[in-house]
Amino acid sequence: MSGRVLVFDTTLRDGEQSPGCSMHGVEKVRLARQLERLGVDVIEAGFPAASVGERESVRAVAQEVACTVAALCRTREEDIRAAAKALHGAARPRIHTFIATSDLHLAHKLKMPREEALRQAVAAVRFAQTFFPEVEFSAEDASRSDYGFLRDVVAAVHEAGASVVNIPDTVGYALPDEYGEIFAKLSRDVPGVTLSAHCHDDLGLANANSLAAVRNGARQVEVTVNGVGERAGNTSLEEFVMTLRVRGESLGLSTGVRTEEIATASHLLSSITGIWPQPNKAVVGRNAFAHEAGIHQHGMLANPLTYEIMTPASVGAGDSSLVLGKHSGRHAVESRLKALGVVLKKDEVEELTARVKELADRKKYVWDEDLLALVACVPDTHVRLVRYQTLSGNQLLPMATVEIEVDGEKRSASAGGNGPLDAALKACDAALGLDVELLELTTRAVTGGKDALAEVVVRVRHGGNEAAGHAASTDSIDASLKSYLSAVSAARAAVLEAAA
Ligand code: KIV
Ligand code: ZN
Repeated sequence: MSGRVLVFDTTLRDGEQSPGCSMHGVEKVRLARQLERLGVDVIEAGFPAASVGERESVRAVAQEVACTVAALCRTREEDIRAAAKALHGAARPRIHTFIATSDLHLAHKLKMPREEALRQAVAAVRFAQTFFPEVEFSAEDASRSDYGFLRDVVAAVHEAGASVVNIPDTVGYALPDEYGEIFAKLSRDVPGVTLSAHCHDDLGLANANSLAAVRNGARQVEVTVNGVGERAGNTSLEEFVMTLRVRGESLGLSTGVRTEEIATASHLLSSITGIWPQPNKAVVGRNAFAHEAGIHQHGMLANPLTYEIMTPASVGAGDSSLVLGKHSGRHAVESRLKALGVVLKKDEVEELTARVKELADRKKYVWDEDLLALVACVPDTHVRLVRYQTLSGNQLLPMATVEIEVDGEKRSASAGGNGPLDAALKACDAALGLDVELLELTTRAVTGGKDALAEVVVRVRHGGNEAAGHAASTDSIDASLKSYLSAVSAARAAVLEAAA
């Protein structure tokens, strides 16, 4: 059996299902390009039956990249048709269909007997094969399924034409020994099928379980960048891939991933979603290569091997480079973007160059991180901040006045609050005249330094719709208001769309 493990990236599907990680079509395409540079074997682009927008995003990704593109669907014919339509024209399309196999899911969620689930699984694989030759089947909650039934399902869908069968640990419950054993038994009982591992990290065991799977015969592993995903997330791409790179000799296994592209992929995803890995996150956390303790620093200086099992360069993490200033032109911006894995259209580069120059007027150095924040924070055109002013101090009642534009119409209002930001948000509400609930507002300094860009992610609820906004500015109130208005704009658009 070959030691090459296929890397199936589901950042754009399972990853996107984590709160706050939803992405627009253009953002999905941007990340897909970087995933391709990274060298993953399969990109799962989405779940086309979910919405029109999702179908469009999957279609856009399918048109863009040359590697295999998968689309997820339930066993229903209409889902499979939607997936096939979205994948039409892809260089290497793969329909990925799934149904649960555990008695728990069958009895309480699907309310069907085992025989019916088996019948639907086989029928779905056969139907999917009428569109494309490559079909993957997933037995949801496989790790909590009865082994005999799971084996029968795997054998039947393989016989029906599924070349890859995925055995998810859907709720992150399995222990490595148990999960590995399922793969050992399936490799013995259903020869010829490519088994895939798909783990969730509820107990922090996703990478250990994925490793147990490949040591027992799995030859595809489903992962996400930064480990994003449902609840506690999925197996993290960087952890799994670097385990195989660092310990490949002991394991006799490898992937085709260009690990030097990992940091760029991680940064790109974070700048799109505004969600950054915890500082001590393995491989991609800010502190993953920082040696603070004196004794460690001494060892590192004597010989880096004392405390470093992989170099920052091996994952593409290095010193942040100084990029641009107010004299930088379009070509300089474009070439920096290229190095960061971002490809924009000509007019987008021009618009970004103008924003880089504007930023360079306020901030001495414009770094790669700043550039990515600017790319991710595209100003909203429907509801936008024109200007704001606050009066604040620790001995007076903070007041704010804002002027905003809603679909081209200027509106202004003033309000007081318990701080300048609270006052400014209340003034925005008064000017908007909408009932908006602020669910979350997080601020992050994009780089070090007192003049750092503040990146703000806001989540709001309006008219039953939740939406997120994302903005960056050297002024944190400015960034907060822009982010808030862009979230309101997205929620308002959903309300208007539903009413139309
Ligand atoms: O976790 C899971 O079971 C899944 C499947 C739908 C593949 O994401
Ligand atoms: Zn999953």
